[in-house]
Formats: sequence, C-alpha cells, structure tokens
Amino acid sequence: MGHDIKDPKLAKHGRLRIEWAKQSMPVLNRIKERFTKEKPLKGIRIGACLHVTTETAALMETLKAGGARVSLCASNPLSTQDDVAASLVKHDKVPVFAIKGEDNKVYYDHINAVLDLKPMFTMDDGADLVSILHSERSELLSLVKGGTEETTTGIIRLRSMAAAGVLKYPIIAVNDANTKHLFDNRYGTGQSTIDGIIRATNRLLAGSRFVVCGYGWCGRGVAMRARGMGANVIVTEVDPLKALEAVMDGFSVMPIKEAARIGDIFCTLTGNVNVIGKAHFRVMKDGAIVCNSGHFNVELDLPGLQSMTKSKRQIRPFTMEYVLKNGKRINVLGDGRLINLAAAEGHPSSVMDMSFANQVLSIEYMVKRKKTLPVEVYPVPAVIDEMIAKDKLATMNISIDILTREQKKYLASWEMGT
Ligand code: ADE
Repeated sequence: MGHDIKDPKLAKHGRLRIEWAKQSMPVLNRIKERFTKEKPLKGIRIGACLHVTTETAALMETLKAGGARVSLCASNPLSTQDDVAASLVKHDKVPVFAIKGEDNKVYYDHINAVLDLKPMFTMDDGADLVSILHSERSELLSLVKGGTEETTTGIIRLRSMAAAGVLKYPIIAVNDANTKHLFDNRYGTGQSTIDGIIRATNRLLAGSRFVVCGYGWCGRGVAMRARGMGANVIVTEVDPLKALEAVMDGFSVMPIKEAARIGDIFCTLTGNVNVIGKAHFRVMKDGAIVCNSGHFNVELDLPGLQSMTKSKRQIRPFTMEYVLKNGKRINVLGDGRLINLAAAEGHPSSVMDMSFANQVLSIEYMVKRKKTLPVEVYPVPAVIDEMIAKDKLATMNISIDILTREQKKYLASWEMGT
C-alpha cells in the first residue's frame, strides 16, 4: 500500500486522539454500526481530499466499515495532523498522502497519488481533487460515478464548472445541508477560529477591536464568539442584506478601509481574493494581527504585504511578524491559511459528526442510484438532512414535541383565521 506521511511513529498518539474524537461523534458511530452489518459500499473505491484530522479519520473508518476502499490526501497544505495520518496508515490501512507544511508541488503530487488509485467516487473539500481530475487527469473521468463536496468555496467552483458545461459527473453539495452549514460553518468555525487565533498569539480578546470580514455562516460564527470573549466586533461586508443582519445583530459595520485603521485583530472569511490588501496594511495600527479562516489563502494579499516589508521573522509558531518600511509591525497568522486548522485542530468533533454523517449518507445515496443521477450539483436529500437532525437530538437525549392531529389539520388549512 503506497502512502506519504511525516512519521509512522506518530501513529500511537494519533490513535488516542482519534478515539477521543469518536466519543463525540455518536451519529457517525451509529452509521458505522449499520454499515458494518450491511456493507452498502462494498467494492466501491473512494478518493478523498479532506483536512486530515481526527474527525476525518472517523469518517474514513466509517466508509471502510461500509466496505469501501478509501484513499486520502490533504485539502490544504497546512491542515494535516501528522499523527492522524500515521494512525490511518498503520491501524486502518488507509493509503494517506499528506504531510503538514507540504509545499504546493507535494500538495498536488498527493492529489495525483489519490487519483492514481482510480476512485469511483470523489469526496472533496474545496474542489481541488475534482478540478485536477477534470483538467490534468481527465482520462480517469469515465471511471467516476459521483462525488460529494464539503465546503462553500468548493460548491461555488463546482457550480461554475456545471454552468460552463465542463462538470462530468454528479456531485452532492454536502455544505448546503442544514445539518452541515448551520452547525459546522457557524459553531464549528466560530469556536475553532477563535481557538486558532488564541493558540497562535495568546492575546486577550476582551476589549480588543476584532474585525470580521464577511458575514456568511462562518463570519457570523466568529463574530458571535469574539463578542462572547468580550471583543468589540466590527463586520465588513459587500452584501447589503448580510450587512443589515450584522447591524441588527448588534455589530458595527463599516468598509474595510475604515476598519483597517482601528482594528487590533482581523479575520477574513469571505471566499474572495485580496480582501485585505496593501492600502489596508499601510494604515493598520502597529502590532495588528491578521489572519484568514476562509478556505483558500487568497484573502490576504501577502505578496503585496511582502513588497512593503523591510524584514520579517517568525516570532511565535504560526505568527510571522512583518516589519514594514514605514516601521509598523503586522503579524500574519498561519501564512494566511485557514487559521482554525493551521494553528488549532479544526472544528470540534460534535459538529463534524453531522457534517460527516451527511458525507457518508450522500455517498451511500449515490451508490444506490448509480448512473441514474443527471450530471449536476445536488442538494443533500431532505430526508437525510432531517434524519441527521433527529439522530443528533436522540444521541443528546433531547426529545421534542410532535404536532397533534388538530395542529396538522390547522397547518394544512387556509380557511381558518382569527
Ligand atoms: N474542517 C474544519 N474542521 C475540520 C475537522 N475537524 N475535520 C475535518 N475537516 C474540517
């Protein structure tokens, strides 16, 4: 079995952390029990490009329990947990190609190594696997029956592939399930981003001016949690509706040009390029802290910052201090890569439980319907989404009310008013 990981000796440590994560993933564990009996994925090869974390290990084990043969590469050069990669290779016999800190060339070599194993289904986070498959490895496309996509950024890329008529197989947009984005993007990103910033800097958030660029589900989560830590949160947006929501959620809203002058900590979560650029770095306060928690490292114009820089030094792990020609210091965290996975451990297991339940059930759904789905980007079927919400509540020992017959009738009628 081929693989490329940092150090096989880390496997024991990885295994303990995976065990810990699985304790908070009851929905996925239940699916794994069923998969072990039913083997719905027997004979299926799945190529996955995901953040290599303890939660992803639990996902890989579930797919294997269902009878699939899985291979895994990283969906970001800085997000791999090397001990998890080692454990997956040693204990689960999963071919893993991922090393934390790999350069771009190795990152793409690893994607190609997964494609060399000829996947029949792809499981992607950011659509790099799908993009390489369609561009450089298109000879393999005839083998691929379907795929899933984990994140907002990936879905935007896939929809543009579908609109351009180049997408060659159906893909389920896991991100768009309610049990995914309302929890993972909001509470997961909210907590893990703050966690990453604190681990990288050990700065006090209380009383700081914390600028959140982008008020999608991820931005909302970060804004909410930064406020919870006592920060004065400023939101920047381009969408009037989201900006209005931020205002009515009680945040200050202003253009980044103004926020740049007053912020202490900046975090981008927009999915767009150069959200913070030279004009903004130039006016920032001495010592400002800047990071990104969006999928790609394009949100901060780091080449622009470099061109204004006199010197730089790694002042702490994951904290690079740039000294500008104007004498000011700007601290960039995690090379502008998603800070929650670069400096912390990504989203906590209990939200990934729902995200990854959506992943495995979507793959099972596609396997059952192979060849009958037209080539499009699909939502997760509503029955799967609802079932995951129900199962999650059940595993939390929380019961809810059910509609009475009278209430159902009332909701179905239009005649009855006051
Ligand atoms: N994306 C964000 N957090 C993650 C995690 N813990 N595992 C896998 N993918 C993630």
